[in-house]
Amino acid sequence: MISVMNKESLIVGIVFGGASGEHDVSIKSAVNVINALRDKNNINRFKVVSFYIDKQGQWWTGSIAEEVLHKGASFNESKSIDQINFKGLDTLPQEIKKIQTWFPILHGPNGEDGTIQGFFKLTGKPFVGSGILGSALGMDKIAMKAAFHSAGLPQVKYCNAFANDLSDKKKLTLLVQQIESKLGYPCFIKPANLGSSVGITKAYNNSQILEGLRNAAKLDNRIVIEKSIQARELECAVLGKKEISTSCIGEVRYNSDWYDYETKYSGESSRVIIPAPISNKLSQEIRKLSLVACKAISVEGIARVDFFYEEKKNCLWINEINTIPGFTSKSMYPMLWEASGLNLSQLVARLVESASE
Ligand SMILES: Nc1ncnc2c1ncn2[C@@H]1O[C@H](COP(=O)(O)OP(=O)(O)O)[C@@H](O)[C@H]1O
Ligand SMILES: [Mg+2]
Repeated sequence: MISVMNKESLIVGIVFGGASGEHDVSIKSAVNVINALRDKNNINRFKVVSFYIDKQGQWWTGSIAEEVLHKGASFNESKSIDQINFKGLDTLPQEIKKIQTWFPILHGPNGEDGTIQGFFKLTGKPFVGSGILGSALGMDKIAMKAAFHSAGLPQVKYCNAFANDLSDKKKLTLLVQQIESKLGYPCFIKPANLGSSVGITKAYNNSQILEGLRNAAKLDNRIVIEKSIQARELECAVLGKKEISTSCIGEVRYNSDWYDYETKYSGESSRVIIPAPISNKLSQEIRKLSLVACKAISVEGIARVDFFYEEKKNCLWINEINTIPGFTSKSMYPMLWEASGLNLSQLVARLVESASE
């Protein structure tokens, strides 16, 4: 149980939206989390204060933030400035001083990457999820892979590239040769610091590698290139700081070549199977490796750990960790906990509690 002084409810600051490509998903996630923290089981335990960060990075609270939640979409930017209660980053809402525990529901850069965690740390109040290091390592695929490698976690073959080097013809030729000889075709080219499959290319030939590198370079200086494997995609949810618990395993299946942006968000082309139809042995292995992965990159509190399973070869590879997984009605994280015995109401309460462990 949370220690609440004078039996008063704990004031929880939920921060959502964010200056990131995943802004709209964040709003959808925040609606579900806040509704669950305000439901009949939690209403006497928590007082939720909502903070909306718009796409330009400005903070809003009070009626504006509540309106965004109510609509489930960004507020009407055509509103005149005196109609709205403007709060910029230079004039952070006074309400931040009242907050006793922070809960970030921000996906992608400027929220999942250690930036907001640094701010929470400076307020001196506990927060849900990983700290600065775990968040930053969980966001950057190059750094994450290096840390996984040090921890001995199995990963598909990969190499790194940097956008700055692509304009140098010699370096580019060497890089493409390295990709072709070390990884072969097809291969995946990914900007290191994005999510939701944004900016990723699956390349089947030399010209697609060049195009993929150019696309990724527009979004990030840091680029990862990976050997493509034919694999099932399995995911495990983790929860808790003092002691990290793992959920049952879920599987994502889709009707496209790979799990790209359209497939992720179009609804009909993908489905989730929980629990994943896999052996008990494989499930235990995934849970064990999820904990190793969290430790390797200093992730705690909340995360979803994603794996590739090459069934024919019986090979399991770690793909990535998401340190602030989605909470939309179709999101794997809350579904995995529901199937593991924690409904959404219990899950969000448990997450808030975990902040002060
Ligand atoms: N090495 C790979 N082999 C096969 N499929 C891959 C590989 N890397 C990525 N993919 C496909 O691309 C999707 C997105 O890649 P991922 O690294 O998870 O990026 P994001 O962080 O955007 O989710 C994966 O879910 C998978 O379908
Ligand atoms: Mg992914």
